[in-house]
Amino acid sequence: MTIDYQERIPNNVGLNDNRQLQRALEKWQPHFIDWWKEMGPEGYQANEVYLRTATSVDAAGWATYGHVKTPDYRWGIFLADQVKDRTIGFGDEYGKPVWQQIPGEHRSTLRRLIVTQGDTEPASVEQQRLLAQTCPSLYDMRNIFQVNVEEGRHLWAMVYLLHAHFGRDGREEAEQLLLRHSGDPNNPRILGTFNEPISDWMSFFCFTYFTDRDGKYQLKMLAESGFDPLSRTCRFMLTEEAHHMFVGETGIGRVIKRALEVMNELKTDDPVRVRDAGAIDLQTVQKYLNFWFSSSLDLFGADISTNAAGYFATGLKGRPDEDGYEDHICNEGTLNVEEICEDGKVVARDVPLRNAMNAVARRAYIKDCDIGVQRWNRLIKKAGAGFEFKLPSERFRRNIGSWTGFHFDPDGNPVSNEQWARRKDEWIPSDADRAHTHSLMKQVVEPGKIAGWIAAPDRGIKNNPIDYDYVRL
Ligand SMILES: [Fe+2]
Ligand SMILES: [Fe+2]
Repeated sequence: MTIDYQERIPNNVGLNDNRQLQRALEKWQPHFIDWWKEMGPEGYQANEVYLRTATSVDAAGWATYGHVKTPDYRWGIFLADQVKDRTIGFGDEYGKPVWQQIPGEHRSTLRRLIVTQGDTEPASVEQQRLLAQTCPSLYDMRNIFQVNVEEGRHLWAMVYLLHAHFGRDGREEAEQLLLRHSGDPNNPRILGTFNEPISDWMSFFCFTYFTDRDGKYQLKMLAESGFDPLSRTCRFMLTEEAHHMFVGETGIGRVIKRALEVMNELKTDDPVRVRDAGAIDLQTVQKYLNFWFSSSLDLFGADISTNAAGYFATGLKGRPDEDGYEDHICNEGTLNVEEICEDGKVVARDVPLRNAMNAVARRAYIKDCDIGVQRWNRLIKKAGAGFEFKLPSERFRRNIGSWTGFHFDPDGNPVSNEQWARRKDEWIPSDADRAHTHSLMKQVVEPGKIAGWIAAPDRGIKNNPIDYDYVRL
């Protein structure tokens, strides 16, 4: 049986001309579909969803819209256009031509980087699999499915690299990507955040705002890679990632807007009354931000890291937006990094820049996270309410790097174990906060209707009205 790959797996990597790669993907594809049916969105797989599909990388083709059942989504393989005469943009190999094939000495490191990135993609689909059942509107249900199919496509992107460049090892890794599962005690996903349950929409919006944004920064760093196919894959993935963060930013914004409406109607800023009215109070929103921001910060690794220095030196992984820096060698500079000593004292040290690459990336990420926070604060100010959102300190609730094992409040002040246990419910969602949020999670699917805890979106998808049949039930 022959398969028209252009039709079945839209691609710009010449699948039709590569028998070996075809065979490898032919074997993997049914496993992927089984995984999607079993571990992907629960329910609604037989319903048509208004989805964006990439059918080419140019402006016309990368976003083709239409109604499709999610198991029939055409997960394509796309590399951004090759940049002519591209050279390595940083590290010891600076200025040398990029690699189209993997240099033997970088093989295992690159495989680990690609597998780690690839693992996050299906993980997030698994984390979000039950949420359609409690969606606040059909518009939101469509958005979560859009995010899910694109994370599926990002898995395809990494599996393509594994199949095309890593031979048998790569094929084995591709199988493993479908066998690890988010939160599975015996075979969990690789990174901590991707094993956290996402059991309500507030968590989903925070995840897409903070954790997909971590994804953006990881992709930006890999987009700088000297391994050109990886760079090109990541550059295209970034175009899709923007929508995921849009879902998060507007989602949180709509929750805030609804809280402000309730506060205005009731002439109160009492969080209890806001809750009683069926909204999520701003204080609780802040706790969710604290939780997901701190969890996502860990994904950048330790502030001081010889691994990070190695990736930079060898040209495997650059800084986000490497072009924006003057010095691409970084053998000389230092970065001032705070660390905590065993006795609990915080000290600042100047660290050789290459060893501080994780900190450099994390700082860029934090700046980016703050943009949305300031936008939400403007909403509050405009409504005349007296509340301000703030990202917690980098020290808060960290499980990777030197802060691990010590407790801090959101302002970065040290707190004892006892104080932490007593006060943590002020800083991250308490059982009662989660119970309240969960009590609001009732599905609304009538076109144009919106649940009472969240405001309607400003506009629909692709100029369609808000009451469009985004999912045909
Ligand atoms: Fe992704
Ligand atoms: Fe994403």
